[in-house]
Amino acid sequence: MPSFFCQKEMYEFNLILNSAHTILGCMELLKRVKGCEGILCVLTEKIDAQLLNAAGPNLKVVSTMSVGFDHLSLDELKKRGIRVGYTPDVLTDCVAELTVALLLATSRRLIEATHEAKTGGWGTWRTLWLCGHELANSTVGILGLGRIGVAIAERLKPFKVKKFIYTDVALRPELANMIEAEYVSLDELAKQSDFLAICCALTPETYGICNWNLFSKMKKNAIFINTSRGGVVNQEDLYEALSTGLIAGAGLDVTTPEPLPTHHPLFTLKNCVILPHVASASYTTRNSMSALAANNLLAGLRGEPMPKELKL
Ligand code: DGY
Repeated sequence: MPSFFCQKEMYEFNLILNSAHTILGCMELLKRVKGCEGILCVLTEKIDAQLLNAAGPNLKVVSTMSVGFDHLSLDELKKRGIRVGYTPDVLTDCVAELTVALLLATSRRLIEATHEAKTGGWGTWRTLWLCGHELANSTVGILGLGRIGVAIAERLKPFKVKKFIYTDVALRPELANMIEAEYVSLDELAKQSDFLAICCALTPETYGICNWNLFSKMKKNAIFINTSRGGVVNQEDLYEALSTGLIAGAGLDVTTPEPLPTHHPLFTLKNCVILPHVASASYTTRNSMSALAANNLLAGLRGEPMPKELKL
């Protein structure tokens, strides 16, 4: 168990600690959750009616070590008066940094390039070999403009991006002003973006929003990047779009399911770079996330204001 979880106080409470390092599995969690007052979970653990019923009436607080909360049944939690903590802000820089890295790796074909260099494909210098697409003078689209979208744009700006555009369920003037981004419709976002970064939360409204309808409007040179949740993408449609050259490439840090089976067709495509959900994986950020999750949990158990509480 990593040291940042070893906060003695946590053991004073009858809680389940189920980190990514100590996966108990859903069945185990269901078995052992009975009577708990607090749950500290990660994004792979579904906190739904079945689990809440198994926990019983003692449960006061669920603290997730993630900014995303699509694995929590919010209605069920609200119904039972259970408070919820999550970990926004502390991972923004880290996720934005990884998103930029993934975007560059995909658009400049870095994975293909290192593979060629290692496996003897590196012959004489060829004019169009391993050419990709550059950020200078490009239009970058952001689907779902929040803290992370802004942080991505701030990092991309020095690459001489010409224009930032975004779409969301509502205008976000304060955030948009920070990066001089223009609000456009989803159709326009697809049509105009050379690079499209998906930063929206997974909700019933965004489930499968990146589908054939969207891909078919995108430019042939477009690079699609998703570091939000796999569920926002229709992966069959993405496969079609990538394999038929409808769009140039995709970089995915998130998929459905996770892990994505190694025989999945997306893994066969050179123009698809897939990472195993590592956007927030820096030592600094994971430590901050775990400390915040622990503090949310403790505050919830004591009936105090949480550092970061999700309003239900
Ligand atoms: C989160 O916290 O929801 C992120 O997906 C972690 O990378």
